[in-house]
Amino acid sequence: MGGDGYLGWPTAMRFAARGHTVWVMDNYLRRQIALETGSEALTSNPNLPARAAIYQAQSGKSIHVVIGDCADYRAMAGVFAEFKPEAVIHYAEQPSAPFSMMNFGAARLTLNNNLNATFNVIYAVLEHAPDCHIIKLGTMGEYGVPNIDIEEGWLEVEHKGRKEKFLYPRQAGSLYHTTKVLDTDLLWFYVRTFGLRVTDLMQGPVYGLSTPEADMDERLIPNFHYDDIFGTVVNRFLAQAVAGIPLTVYGKGGQTRGYLNLLDTLQCVELAMSHPADKGQLRILNQFTQLFTVNELAEKVKRVGDHMGLNVKVEHIKNPRKEKEEHYYNAHHSGLKEMGLKPHLMTDEAVAGMLGRIAKYKDKIDAAKIMPRVRWA
Ligand SMILES: NC(=O)c1ccc[n+]([C@@H]2O[C@H](COP(=O)([O-])OP(=O)(O)OC[C@H]3O[C@@H](n4cnc5c(N)ncnc54)[C@H](O)[C@@H]3O)[C@@H](O)[C@H]2O)c1
Repeated sequence: MGGDGYLGWPTAMRFAARGHTVWVMDNYLRRQIALETGSEALTSNPNLPARAAIYQAQSGKSIHVVIGDCADYRAMAGVFAEFKPEAVIHYAEQPSAPFSMMNFGAARLTLNNNLNATFNVIYAVLEHAPDCHIIKLGTMGEYGVPNIDIEEGWLEVEHKGRKEKFLYPRQAGSLYHTTKVLDTDLLWFYVRTFGLRVTDLMQGPVYGLSTPEADMDERLIPNFHYDDIFGTVVNRFLAQAVAGIPLTVYGKGGQTRGYLNLLDTLQCVELAMSHPADKGQLRILNQFTQLFTVNELAEKVKRVGDHMGLNVKVEHIKNPRKEKEEHYYNAHHSGLKEMGLKPHLMTDEAVAGMLGRIAKYKDKIDAAKIMPRVRWA
């Protein structure tokens, strides 16, 4: 679900490459929002059927494409009734925090789209493929930045001499992240009531463009957004470094987050799929490999960029978000490592590789798209 997206498309190719029968479903919501908000991707990615045809020509492997809305139950149920998947990877959400904070219409779209898509996945599984393993993409942003360690999904609470395990308390920093909290609560209700098998992957920001399958043809590259709506901080910094614009650190830059390489997202979803959650289990795994502050990230891009002759500048600008700019952050993430995750870290070579790849499209970088247009309050 969400197979046209930044993660969905490389995931579809990876599973097809492994010999699985792969169906993808997408309604181009991201492309539509990007067009409406002037946040188009750096490269003009072919549409899904065209990408699938290019991939098939390169690899001999097919990906079955359904253009449809996951928030429309009839469309979703039709796919499950016909395909009866063993696993579903649910990426189909509106994932931009700034977009979700833009205005009433954008907030309502995010809320309706994300909750309905998740609810429909749950019901389609219940009705048409009750043994199907739901692999759901959550976000580390569900936890917020609490002043205590972040556990993997659950917290044992002792209260007045008695103990109980609860979902870890979550305090998201945007409406988008709040929809992910609500998704998790919906999943937990249906897991404990109807015995679904669910893995909720609490993922940090992902970076990278290169996978063995995407590298077979430049037209198979995942969508790269560097704007303030869809671009992550890593992508913005990379595009700014290449375009000769100062890297814009929001506020003090002490915001710490857990990052991971696109290659590791693929590994994680594969690991989750090959070690399915039990029936009646909501398994929550924190999915990131390295922690950085925004300042550390800016320093890294500057150091590597300078080495490549880019003469990178760093500027602190007023933070458009309502968030702590210096805080305690210690998030546990041992579950995926225990399952066999071999991290690809953000080395200087990895940063240089991304800068080199983006430099090919330097003329297409539009500086006007990068500065924040949405303020939280
Ligand atoms: N990329 C990251 O850094 C990151 C980090 C944490 C979590 N996530 C989560 O991973 C998932 C995938 O993220 P992404 O970066 O690939 O985002 P993306 O926007 O590139 O991909 C999401 C895809 O889902 C599709 N979609 C959305 N609503 C749909 C609907 N109702 N019906 C059909 N298709 C629909 C969109 O058109 C898009 O192609 C999202 O749920 C996101 O919240 C991503």
